Order: sequence, then C-alpha cells, then structure tokens
Amino acid sequence: MNSPFVTVIFGGTGDLAQHKLIPSLFSLFKQGELGQEFFIIGFARRPFTDTEYAHMLGDVTELHSDSKWAEFAKNIYYQQGLFDELAGYEALIRKLNVFDKKIGACITRLFYLATPPDNYLAILENLKNSKLSEGCGPAFAKVTASKQESVGKWVRIAIEKPFGRDLDTAKELDMRLSEIFEEEQIYRVDHYLGKETVQNMIAFRFANNIFEPVWNNNYIDHVQITFAQDEGIEKRGKFFDGVGIMRDVAQNHLLQLLATVAMEQPASFSKEGVRDARAEAIKAIRPIDPNEVSQSIVRGQYKDYTAEAGVAENSQTETYVAMKLFVDTPRFQDVPFYVRAGKKMPKEVIEISIVFIQTCHLLFKEYGCPEIGNVLTIRIQPDEGIKLRVIAKQPGGKVALGAVDMNFSYHQAFGNHGIDAYEKLLMDIFKGDQMLFNRSDELESSWKLISHILKGWESEKSGIPVYEPGTWGPELAKKLIEKDGKKWL
Ligand code: BG6
Repeated sequence: MNSPFVTVIFGGTGDLAQHKLIPSLFSLFKQGELGQEFFIIGFARRPFTDTEYAHMLGDVTELHSDSKWAEFAKNIYYQQGLFDELAGYEALIRKLNVFDKKIGACITRLFYLATPPDNYLAILENLKNSKLSEGCGPAFAKVTASKQESVGKWVRIAIEKPFGRDLDTAKELDMRLSEIFEEEQIYRVDHYLGKETVQNMIAFRFANNIFEPVWNNNYIDHVQITFAQDEGIEKRGKFFDGVGIMRDVAQNHLLQLLATVAMEQPASFSKEGVRDARAEAIKAIRPIDPNEVSQSIVRGQYKDYTAEAGVAENSQTETYVAMKLFVDTPRFQDVPFYVRAGKKMPKEVIEISIVFIQTCHLLFKEYGCPEIGNVLTIRIQPDEGIKLRVIAKQPGGKVALGAVDMNFSYHQAFGNHGIDAYEKLLMDIFKGDQMLFNRSDELESSWKLISHILKGWESEKSGIPVYEPGTWGPELAKKLIEKDGKKWL
C-alpha cells in the first residue's frame, strides 16, 4: 500500500476485530505492507479514548509485548457510537476529515462491518444518511475528478458472513447494499476463501494434469468434507446462539469448500472467471425439500451448551450439522457429498477427502483388499497439506495388500504457510481485487439451499439431539453415511 488509507471497523471491540482484524493489520504493518500513512478506527458502543482502545487491543491479544506494537498503536483511534444512531457517524466524519486534512487529500476509506449481522442494515442506513458512503466530505470533494470516480475509488465496504439470516434477508441486504454502493466497492467476506490451502485447490486441480481426468463420477465414489473444531463457542455465546453452526459455518465456509471440489475449470484465472465457476458449482447443488430434511440433514447440540454464557436457557441452536448433498452437474451426477461441521469435536480437523471407487478386488479378490482404496485428502488445517492414500503390496514372501500414504506438507515443502487468510483478504481489499470475495449470486444460491433446510427444522417437533462433547456428534450423523454403506473417515 503506497497511498494512505483508513479502515473503520464497526464492531471495533468485538471478537473478530480483536482476534482477527487487528492482528492481521499488525502483521501487515510489520511486513511493511501498510505503507507510511494509515489510520484504524474502532467504532463501537462502549466509551474509550483512543489510547484506552489501543491498550485494550494490545492486552487482549498480547500483541503489546511485540516491540513494534507501540509504533503500530499510534495509528489506532476510537469512535464511540451506536450503530443505529446518526450522531456517532457524524462524529466519525469529523475524525475522518481531520485525517484527510492532515494528508491533504481524500483518503481511501474502508468500512469493515464486523458486527453481528442484525446490525448491518442500521449501519448501511446511517452510512448513507450521514453521506459517509459517498466518500470524502465536501471540503475535499474537489480533489477527485468527478463524483463517480470518487465513489468507486475512495470508499470500500467489507461485510462479514453470515450475510443475512436466510434467503429473504440476504436479498434485502444485497438490495440495500447495491442501492448505496457500486458492486466494485463491495467485499463480501468469507475468510475461508483467503486460506492458502483453499486457494491452492484451483492450482492443484487445474495446474496438474493427472487429477482432472479422474475428477468425476467415473472415478469418485463420494466426497467428505469435515469442519471439526475441538473448541466450543468460547466467549461468543450471544452471537453464536443467534446464528447456529448452519449459518455460522455451513452456509459459507463449508459450501465454499464444496465449491472448490465441484467447480469446473474457470474460463480464465480472473476475478469473474473464478467467481463464475464458484457460483455455478453452488447453484448446481440439488435443492432439499423442507419436508424431507431429516433424510439428508442431521443436527445436534453439545451437552451443556445451554449453560454457556450468552446462550438462551432453552436454546435449540445447533452446534453440529451433517448434510448429504448432491451436485447436479454431468461431472458429479450421483456422487454424494457428505459434509459436516461441529463444535466440541474430539480434535480440530478441517479437510476435504475425495474417496475414489475401489477396484482392487478385480485382480486381488482372494488376497484381500483394504476396505477403502484411494483417498485424496486436502488438509485445510491444521498441518496444512495433501495426502494420497494408495494401495501397495506389503513387503514379504506372501501377497498381501495394505494402504500407505503419500504426504505433502506445506510446512515441510515451503517453510512457512504464507500469509493468514485475513491478511490476504485485507490486502486484496486495499488493492481492489475481488476474486476471493463472494458475489451476490453465489450467496443467493447458497441461501436458497440453506433456507429450505432451516424451514424444515422450524417445523420439526422433536427437540434437538444432544451429543457428548469430545465425540463426533450425534449418532444419527453416523447413520446418515452408514446407511449408504460408507463411513466417516
Ligand atoms: C468463523 C466462525 O467464521 O470461522 C467460527 O464464525 C469458526 O465459528 C471460525 O470457529 C473458524 O475459522 P478458522 O480460521 O479459525 O478456521
């Protein structure tokens, strides 16, 4: 970044700001990526001075012990305000005008919505009413050639997932956004798209000639995607209880992972080429009838979830979901995708496994074949890498077959894992590159699918199944895959 910029984080005292955005900005600063002049403003309800706010951020993340923190923290400011009251936004304008004056030009402004999603519409409304959405204040408008140019160039808006609560609210939010901003200004964030391992899926699939010929229903038996976290909801009870894992993780991260497997080769490695391919894959997921949800979707809640701070006493919010999905394209016709996400699982595993059709028995029937044959596993985290399970003859005089793994570890191959997802996405926003951000049509398709499921759940009479923390979820999740003669890996 050579030109100055300002990032306003709505929800500046929240979990996302504290644990992801600020540490990522700090890391970019240390790498020299933020240039000479930048300003970070946290916007939230609680009263803080600039110094108190910067202190709080440094304390929470323990970044203050880093020798560069003090220098970075000089660029941190705070604006107290309520999301639904204009006064805070007007005070924010005054602050921004001071920065513009200091620099002597219109500074690029990024408004980052890192609040719970039910605040989005109010924030958009006030960005519009205060004219913050239009960029620099009148005193500096002359700096740009025309208003049109100033709008596109000077203001960007980033919106965190979940983008809405269902199809209708997502559409409403999108409509509101597009009334206020041009599409080029809008960055719909799903940070999984910024992960090195997820970005690598396109390179892996389309830059290696050996995988594409077998990447279809002639060779693939089924696909498993696991998003398991050993942690619970931590201190995010209030937020999580209002959304559940379906909206928090499945509608976005899980479906994006699915899209990287199911998508066709993009027409070009360009913003729209890649977004088109992703959107088409999500659009092709077979819809689920709300009346038949229980046949292909399982939900669960970990034991004692309702005792967590911020969670309603009788909450029916799911902390686990497993889904059996199909992608109706010629490539994947009739290949089941089993995808699951859960909190308080036995360990953290976020990975995609492509399980190939087993043909070992054609030649080796009487010698015994391993139950599962070739599996290609893409480990998103931890221990980022790719593993191919192959069948091999076990050493010895007798013929006996076993399975062995060919392993590629990012860490071993490349030393470090590149940059963090939020660092990558923030850099892309500053550069104006939207490739790794959601377009509204892909969100609409994913919400169409998920809204049907949510509707089905609403009409279910039985309470949510409970699972023991530290297990792989409710018993029904096992049945979901085992009734098809397969097993979770
Ligand atoms: C967030 C979800 O989007 O992703 C969290 O809100 C989840 O519930 C997190 O824990 C996982 O992200 P990461 O990068 O830690 O794998």
